[in-house]
Amino acid sequence: MFKKLMGIFSNDMAIDLGTANTLVLIKDQGISINEPSVVAIQYDKYGQEHILAVGKEAKDMVGKTPGNIKAIRPMKDGVIADFNVTEMMIRYFIEKAHKRKSFFSPRIIICVPYGLTQVERKAVKESAINAGARYVYLIEEPMAAAIGAGLPIKEPNGNLVVDIGGGTTEIGVISLGGLVLSKSLRVAGDKLDASIANYIKQNFNLLIGDRVAEELKIKIGTAVPLEEDLITLVRGRDSVEGALASIEISSEHIREAMKEPIREIGEALKTVLEDTPPELAGDIVENGIVLTGGGALIRGLDKYLSNLVKLPVYIAEEPLLAVAIGTGKALDEIDLLQQTSYED
Ligand SMILES: Nc1ncnc2c1ncn2[C@@H]1O[C@H](COP(=O)(O)OP(=O)(O)OP(=O)(O)O)[C@@H](O)[C@H]1O
Ligand SMILES: [Mg+2]
Repeated sequence: MFKKLMGIFSNDMAIDLGTANTLVLIKDQGISINEPSVVAIQYDKYGQEHILAVGKEAKDMVGKTPGNIKAIRPMKDGVIADFNVTEMMIRYFIEKAHKRKSFFSPRIIICVPYGLTQVERKAVKESAINAGARYVYLIEEPMAAAIGAGLPIKEPNGNLVVDIGGGTTEIGVISLGGLVLSKSLRVAGDKLDASIANYIKQNFNLLIGDRVAEELKIKIGTAVPLEEDLITLVRGRDSVEGALASIEISSEHIREAMKEPIREIGEALKTVLEDTPPELAGDIVENGIVLTGGGALIRGLDKYLSNLVKLPVYIAEEPLLAVAIGTGKALDEIDLLQQTSYED
């Protein structure tokens, strides 16, 4: 009875805890937070950590902080690199969402990277409990991505989703509400950024930071040759002379720089298709492949993958929101989840 009453007062939440971006969605209200998973920490003279900023404000500080301030991405490569800071970040986002409206011990469903260990999962759950959650459920990313992309996951019909995030690319074959087959590789947006920075250093002796590399990827990056090259100016530091310099970079350069990681994503997709049972493979030939996550927005990636596996490839309507939307839909069925294996 008491629980029932609490249910009336609480607004349950869905969280997409991504390595690059964290989204919080409140039941019946939609997305309330959509910010980078970055925390700026300041160290006092006793070496104690204090949160200076979280989210967008913290991301803007990356690479620009003085000695006693550090901008941290606590989740990297699809794993929790810093438990303390991850906990701080989860609490901060939950409390921020709380403040917008009065809450009373909400139930929270969190989408976590597929490869998290039991210890990491437990840490995520405890962070949410410490931030005031009444119950915490975890859902896996390929499943949330598929639900969010609107795939009919409950039917006896195979669907294939590829979610390319910041830290990981997750490929899942889903049928009858379950993951039949999946693969997670630590090649996604961050690796592309690193490859771009590395390429520009090797070929132009220019040092650029990850932020600038990401901007290049988004602005002119492409997975296939373009009819007309895109060109932009990039500033950095000359790695030989140390002076500030700027050079012109084209989309063809960025394609060359991203070639290897993109090839790896394609190879992983091929492997999953080869391992898919024949009945489901037949369905996928018919339904095609759906891309979600920020990586789905890489120019021509759909075309590249489609050429590679000779199947139709579609981009989800809102690739950056798909996982959060899917987690939110799972929230609508939270009473069902309570009895299922989602709760570990
Ligand atoms: N227009 C774009 N073109 C190419 N890449 C983009 C674009 N927009 C965003 N990205 C990239 O998408 C990535 C973030 O995607 P997303 O928010 O889905 O990741 P995430 O869910 O936080 O990470 P993960 O799922 O690995 O934990 C970043 O690497 C970002 O650079
Ligand atoms: Mg994600």
